[in-house]
Order: sequence, then structure tokens, then C-alpha cells
Amino acid sequence: MLSDNAKAEIRALQARYPMPRSALGPALYVAQREAGWLPADVLAEVAALFGLDATEVGEFASFYHMYNTHREPGQYHIEICDNVPCMLGGAVKLGDLLRERLGIEFGQTTPDGKFSLGRVECLGACATAPMFMCTEKFTGRIRYFEELHTPEKLDEALALIASGHGFDTCERWPLGPFRHGGRPDTNFLLARVDKPDSHRIETYIADGGYETARRVITGAGTTPPRSPQQVIDEVKAAVVRGRGGAGFPAGQKWSFLPAGKYPRYLVVNADESEPGTFKDRMIMEYDPHQLIEGIILTSYAIEAERAFIYVRGEYYFAAQRLEGAIAEAEAKGFLGDNIFGSGKKLKVIVHRGAGAYECGEETALLTSLEGYRGHPRLKPPFPAVEGLYGKPTIVNNVETISNVPHILRHGADWYKQWGTPQSTGFRLFCLSGQVKRPGLYELPHGTTLRELIYEYGGGPTDDSGGLKAVIPGGLSVQFITADQLDIPLDYENLAKAGSALGSAGVIVIGADQSMIEIARRTVAFYREESCGKCTPCREGVPWLEAILERIERGEGRVEDIALMLYLADMIGGKSFCPFGYAAIWGLQSNLAKFRGEFDAAIAAARERPVIPIRPIYRPDAGAASGVTEPSLPLEEKYNAPTHRR
Ligand code: FES
Repeated sequence: MLSDNAKAEIRALQARYPMPRSALGPALYVAQREAGWLPADVLAEVAALFGLDATEVGEFASFYHMYNTHREPGQYHIEICDNVPCMLGGAVKLGDLLRERLGIEFGQTTPDGKFSLGRVECLGACATAPMFMCTEKFTGRIRYFEELHTPEKLDEALALIASGHGFDTCERWPLGPFRHGGRPDTNFLLARVDKPDSHRIETYIADGGYETARRVITGAGTTPPRSPQQVIDEVKAAVVRGRGGAGFPAGQKWSFLPAGKYPRYLVVNADESEPGTFKDRMIMEYDPHQLIEGIILTSYAIEAERAFIYVRGEYYFAAQRLEGAIAEAEAKGFLGDNIFGSGKKLKVIVHRGAGAYECGEETALLTSLEGYRGHPRLKPPFPAVEGLYGKPTIVNNVETISNVPHILRHGADWYKQWGTPQSTGFRLFCLSGQVKRPGLYELPHGTTLRELIYEYGGGPTDDSGGLKAVIPGGLSVQFITADQLDIPLDYENLAKAGSALGSAGVIVIGADQSMIEIARRTVAFYREESCGKCTPCREGVPWLEAILERIERGEGRVEDIALMLYLADMIGGKSFCPFGYAAIWGLQSNLAKFRGEFDAAIAAARERPVIPIRPIYRPDAGAASGVTEPSLPLEEKYNAPTHRR
């Protein structure tokens, strides 16, 4: 039974949102914290508080990775990331060590109930791999344990957790910002992160923080306030492109809001989940006021009185820091009912997601924020016209919004001195994988891959072998090969090279790495993270994974390449949202550029007859003529349970 305190907390959460159902996700965290997990009777109690059917709440909860609806975890639930960047950083070895130290397999709990072990997709800690996340059962607190390069480091981390002091703070372990750097003349977004108490409002104010917002909204001396339209025009002139992945210019997006339609909402996309990407995390953890000033300015420009920060559930520490920063800003009168004494209102709400990559897509994020499974919506209407609760809504990424105070402080022309005409300004490049100095580097657009990898990253880990490939924009974009390192990292040049800048998550793959394993782990991520709405993604991606497993096992068949290309063709562009493309671009470019590795593995496979089965229906005849369906063993894989079917 939920306690009266828990019920009161849930009611208070409901009151935070324009629609109480938005509090469903946060309420489940409260219930899970109290009960330790979410069996059917607990879900039913939560459902009653929302006036919903228990099955509806169960359907919601089962969509999100972080709600334990099927198994009670141990007192300390450890989840290891072995997505591509972490795998390249040694996650498989760490997983073996963890199993050995705890004496359990993935999915199991130690006999004393103290530890349970699971695996998870990218946690935004790719440069600090290998790592794991630990959740304390009855408090819901989450902490990252990173840079576990040696057995001794792992033992140290486990001992700290077992001592009961592992959650005295939820700041990452080891403490402090992870490796970062860049050019001194473009050190803006990360300028403060190394200062003591970089997250406190006094530190931000000492650097002139909030003065831009104050001046824009209330004017200064004889300078009158700037109008919302003037703010939009300045950001539009700067051509600051969205940093979440799609790269759509922010000012242009803001100008799509329909005139005279209110209320309007700002939703900050802090659901940073693209493997290889960990930039928003640094801003939220170590300079949250920079983001909040950006939110104030953006909300003023779009005339919104309520802003939501949708932060991925695993970023527990970032959410803590944001909540603390919002309270500080409210106490100073920078947020609330009369910001800077201007009579303007702004309430900022931090909303934690619960582990679903798809919620990084803006319409899926809005659906999730409304208290439903994170399924995408049809566009148009675009969120600017019909977004959160059907109202005009601007969705922008954390890094995008954090650029706004700098642009309004110094002007669009100042911002455009860096980069190229279509890719203006500076950027946080996330460097991970097999490179000596993985980390976060703030550099102008147009910096070459070679400069980033060799000058800032110290070059590939293996001096003699060099590198084989680079993924320049997060796991969902196409590969760049070792002979293309002089490509400038900007939208136009990467597009010309057949790839994309995406979220600027640059993943380096060493010369000795199997590209078949990279392909398998890539599609495994999309299999795990498909929201399940569209048949091509939900059903097609597991087949790709099964075929790649077969090739890796040494049982590949000559028709497998054509079969994968056919399946990829049936997924890309055939689903509701861009997820379909994200799921297959990496595989397609892998097959195009490293086909020899796949052919060699298949040629070496043992002789095995192809089992003839009925052909797949396909309306167009193309590359897949003569392709057969996967054989029976794959059907076992296909029928394996997945929580989003
Ligand atoms: Fe593991 Fe990003 S944290 S791949």
C-alpha cells in the first residue's frame, strides 16, 4: 500500500502540470521508490490516483526501461552500458568482471538481495567508458560510476556502494566534470565548468550571468527593452541550428508560431540519448544557470509562461542540479510571477523521462510529457502550431538554448564570425571510442575530423594500427573512412560526404575492430529502442540483428548481404518518424564501405543448405529479387518477447 506521504507527493506532482496525467511518469517513480518496484497492485494504486484503468498505467509503465514492472531489483541495481562507444572503451570486459565479482548473470540478483545486474543502452557517458549506472532501490537515487579501466577501480566502486555511502552524493564517480577542452577563442558553453561551485547562481552572476536576460526584458539605462520579435530576429540572424540532431535553425522554428494563439510552451529537449553524445549532460550538471538564462530569453521571445525541461531519467544528477538552480533563480526573482520586476511570468518544470530513446524525437517527447507511451505523432501539424496539450510549442535542445544568452549578449554577427555560412558558430563535439583523449571539445563548426581526433583527441588508441572508421554524428549516421579525415565538421560538408553532423557525437573505430560486431551492436540498439509503433522498425530490425548474429557466429549465408539490404530498404523511410532511417543508415554505409569483411566472414562459414521458404511480399521488384526469408532459427529470435510489442 502506498503511504499517505507518497499519495500526497503524487497529488502535488499532478498540480504542477496543466494536465494532471503528465504526472503519471513522475508518480511511478514515487511509487517505485516506496514499494521497491512496480507489481500489478502498486500500478493499480497509482492508476486509482489518476482515475485511470490499471491496464492503461501498466501499458505506460512497460514502455519505459526504468520502471521495474516485471522483476524486483536488488538493493543496488547495477546496469552496464555496452553500446558501441562503451564496447570500444572496454565494456565487455567490465561486464565479465562484474559478473565474476557479484557471482551473478545479467538479469539476476545476489542471494542476499544486495546487488542485481542488468544492461542498458547509451547513458551519455561514452567518453568515460567503461562505466555502469547504479540505482538505490528504496530512494530511487541514481549514480554513475565511470572510467572503470582496471579491476581495482571496479572493486573500489563496488566497495563504496556496499558500504552504504555510495549515494552520499549522486555526482558522478570520480567527482567533477569529465575531460573537456577546445579552442580558447570559442570557450563559451564550457567556460565555467571547472570553477568551484560552477552550478551555483553566485558563480554564474559573478561572470555577468542573467544580465543579458535582465537587459533584454527590462532594458538598461536609456536602452529600452527588446521586443520578443527583436529577440527572434537576432537569433534568426545568427542562424543557430538545432543541436539535437536535425539541425533546423532555432530562430526560424520560433517564427512558425501562429499569431495570437496562447498559451504557448517551451519544451527543452534534454533527453540526450543518441549513442556517442554527452554534451547536454555537462551543461546541466556543471552550468545549469546558463541553460536557465537561455530558457528565460527563449520563453520571452516566444511569449511562453511555462517551460518544461524533459531530461532523460538516467540523468538523475543533472535533474537534481537543475532543480537546485531553478530554486536559486526563483529566490532571486529571475523566475516566477514577476521576473526581473518586469511583470512577466515564467515557471520552469523539470520532468524526468524514464528510459526511451524514441522520446528524443520531438513529437514522441511531447506525447511522453503528456503521460503516454512515447510514440511519435504525424507532422504536420508541427509542434510550433499544435504541440504540448495541443498548444503552440517550441521544442529545442539544451545546447541550442544555451547558445541564446551568448548570441543576445554579443549579437548575431559576433556569433557568425565562426563556422561557415550554413553552419554558424561553435559546437560541442563529443569524442569517444578508440581515441587517446576522449572527451567534450568546444570548437568552431568547420574544424576537421583530423584536427578533432589527432590534435584534441591525441589520435587513435593504437598508434601502429590507426583507425578504420569514424561515425561523425552519433550512432545513427553513416560512416566516414580513414581517407576522409580532412572533412570539415559542418552540416554541408558531411552531407556532401554522404554522412551527417547529427548530434556531433564523433565515435572513433580502431583498425582492428570488427565491423560486423559494430553492425550487430548498432542494430541491437535500434531493436531495443524501437517504440514499437511501426511494423518496419519493430519487426524488421530484430531480423537484421539475427542475421548479423548468424554471420558473426560463422554461419553466414551468401544471400545474407542481399537480405539485409532488402530489409534495410523496407525500414528506411517506411516508418512514421526518422527512427527508421536512423536504424539502417549505419548498416547500409557499413556494408557499402566494409563489404569485404562481411563477404570474408560468410565465405569462411561452414557449408550449410539454404532452407527454402515462402517469399516475402514486396510491392516493388528491386534489389531483393530471389531473396529468401530467414530460416527457422531466426524465428525463435523473432518471437522473443520485447516490451514494446
Ligand atoms: Fe555507453 Fe554512451 S554511455 S555508449
